[in-house]
Amino acid sequence: MRYGFFDDNNKEYVITTPKTPLPWINYLGCNDFFTLISNTCGGYTFYKDAKLLRMTRYRYNDTTPDTNGKYFYIKDGDCIWNPGWQPTKTELDSYECRHGIGYSKFTGAKNDIEASLITFVPVDNPVELTKVTLTNKGTSKKDIQLFSYVEWCLWNADDDMKNYQRNLSIGEVEVVDSTIYHKTEYRERRNHYAVYSVNTKIDGFETSRDEFRGAYNGPDKPAAVIEGKLHNTIASGWYPIASHQINVSLEPGDSKTFVFALGYIENAEDDKWEKPGVINKKKAHELLSRYQTTEDFDKAFNELCNYWNGLLSRFHIESSDEHVNRMVNIWNQYQCMVTFNMSRSASYYETGIGRGMGFRDSCQDLLGFVHLIPDRARERIIDIASTQFQDGSAYHQYQPLTKKGNSDIGSGFNDDPLWLIAGTSAYIRETGDTSILKEMVPYDNDMSVATTLMEHLKRSFDYIVNHKGPHDLPLIGRADWNDCLNLNCFSEHPGESFQCFGPSEGPVAESVFIAGMFVKYGREYAALCKLMGDTAEEARVLGEVDKMIAAIEKDGWDGEWFVRAYDAYSHKVGSKECEEGQIYIEPQGMCVMAGVGVDNGNAKKALDSVKAKLDTKYGVMILQPAYTRYHLELGEITSYPPGYKENAGIFCHNNPWISIAETCIGRGDRAFEVYKKTCPSYIEDISEIHRTEPYVYSQMVAGADAKFHGEAKNSWLTGTAAWTFTNISQYILGIYPTLEGLSVNPCTPAAFGDFNITRVYRGVTYHIEIKNPNKVQKGVASLTVDGVEVQGNVIPFDGSKKEVNVVATMN
Ligand code: BGC
Repeated sequence: MRYGFFDDNNKEYVITTPKTPLPWINYLGCNDFFTLISNTCGGYTFYKDAKLLRMTRYRYNDTTPDTNGKYFYIKDGDCIWNPGWQPTKTELDSYECRHGIGYSKFTGAKNDIEASLITFVPVDNPVELTKVTLTNKGTSKKDIQLFSYVEWCLWNADDDMKNYQRNLSIGEVEVVDSTIYHKTEYRERRNHYAVYSVNTKIDGFETSRDEFRGAYNGPDKPAAVIEGKLHNTIASGWYPIASHQINVSLEPGDSKTFVFALGYIENAEDDKWEKPGVINKKKAHELLSRYQTTEDFDKAFNELCNYWNGLLSRFHIESSDEHVNRMVNIWNQYQCMVTFNMSRSASYYETGIGRGMGFRDSCQDLLGFVHLIPDRARERIIDIASTQFQDGSAYHQYQPLTKKGNSDIGSGFNDDPLWLIAGTSAYIRETGDTSILKEMVPYDNDMSVATTLMEHLKRSFDYIVNHKGPHDLPLIGRADWNDCLNLNCFSEHPGESFQCFGPSEGPVAESVFIAGMFVKYGREYAALCKLMGDTAEEARVLGEVDKMIAAIEKDGWDGEWFVRAYDAYSHKVGSKECEEGQIYIEPQGMCVMAGVGVDNGNAKKALDSVKAKLDTKYGVMILQPAYTRYHLELGEITSYPPGYKENAGIFCHNNPWISIAETCIGRGDRAFEVYKKTCPSYIEDISEIHRTEPYVYSQMVAGADAKFHGEAKNSWLTGTAAWTFTNISQYILGIYPTLEGLSVNPCTPAAFGDFNITRVYRGVTYHIEIKNPNKVQKGVASLTVDGVEVQGNVIPFDGSKKEVNVVATMN
């Protein structure tokens, strides 16, 4: 069942009922200012950091879900309604929500009044704009009232939810003309405030929530709206809000348009006040003056559309498969940009007060956005590397505002260091910019011990070399990619973190997954050494890689698939010897991607085992058989009911690893079959089962053991976006950036047909035509570049050209 449809021409998903199985959201904002917005206008806004600079309040885990947002109420006689349906839930005569790229549009109609909203954040200003158009579609005059509503959050979202003895006394606002200023804590420690304004004279305002709603009402029954009159209250403590009242008369056929602006302002410390107690509003006036007319609004909106069109055109495919075209050209790239901005911090499943930026997460996200925003990828790499420790290990997370490592969780996740190599290598392969390797980068933000980024990569690599266990495989530490496989932690009591409890140093549990990573990213590091002329280091690194391959072959191979790990007692995890959890997806994907077993047939065996034991119609499960009881020696993974999350769920993130691995052994049909199973557009028809948004990936889909097999959770902020884009663009469609130039080596289903790709790479636009006359799955028989045949798969890079035409014929 569907709840809407894709409008590819407009790059929108059109939701045709507000009653989607879960809120279906979108992200507004490109740089520092962000909004989450659901298909019923729920959501919140923050500046830079969802924890520390939260502007509007949202309640996670509320009994009535998703009822705080930026709402517009319309009072038409006794009928009160919202164009996005929530929070009054008055049945609408018509409803539509269009989530687009960086904007959302809503159209609701009731009793001959149509209200349409367009909302977005301009490319370069910290403000959310909403254009509200009210139209009288009937035959008689309408006198109605429009009320805006936002609830302010007292900036630190964590404190806002906990510290009532203080917070209920500190709320402060000012109101001048049509602008409401939220200035809580501005007097002491803050140099920023928020504004909510509209470009017309207002007929009243409210800044006290109790006055607006009535003390015992929810947002669905706001007393002042029911009364039809705001009382011009100035909040003092309690719960400050901002609401404007505009009385509107509409003759039949008439329309009126208003532009609302919700902005963030910072003042210099010595320029905070206009006069004692009155905030300096100069910058607010400047900001608001830019968006006073619908023309201003439309201009900023066009700039936003151009910005996104420019970004998305950097990789464009035309094929006979509409799902691939849609996901590659629009939604998958868009989701990669959202993960760039949010990492795992703020979504409808991540509260914004938890994880901040993940070290491994952000490095992997980079794989998906580096072709879109190489400059910002460069900055991100430096930020991430700056949280590394001198021994090569790393903070597992850091806070986006301060860019400092999070010491609550600390380090000891032993895959983290290698992901830095993965991200840096992807950046250099994309841009050719080796200057980044010479940048001086601190350790733990301490510039006095800074070294070059290249040295950081060396220490990343050597961290693994220096931390091996009894089988010469890498020590796992607190966990590797699978945060829930906690082989050293032994958490026995509620409240003990599964990951951080117990020592990370000392115990001997080992990871075959990290071993696979070491081979893959060790080779990428070796290639960088070669590029920089350090052949001695290159040889040393390749020697270590060979040793690791030998260790995998000796103790990491189980006969039909790769072992997952060795626990603290040196027992196998993910082996036929195990009672539960006999086969895991991660080492099969990572080892084969690293090339281990490709020559001796083990890769094929491992992937056949994946198909036989882990596959379902909704995707490939993370392990089988699911754990049915808690295993102290395995940790959090066994704490989940069978079929959910890391305990035999379909963890979408590593499905592309299997798909990529299949391309490594040339099986395009199977690679694409795996791609399709979790691809949102392909499964739009089962939205009532899948439940999350049909235009983006979710972290997890419940596995075969779960009661709700096929149901997804945790949409948007997942490494699935980056890995899927890497898979489809670089491996299935086969346009892979190497250090020397773009390589063309597709691995498609036999019946996929010919396709064309436009790819912007290092400032050159490549028009690549791929022909597959004999319906093969892999293999390029000939490659011509501007009419000249070249040997091999790599298009020789020539930066003097602006456009290059390439024809690749598969055979
Ligand atoms: C985390 C990832 C981790 C994955 C698997 C996600 O929630 O953000 O870092 O790799 O779970 O455990």
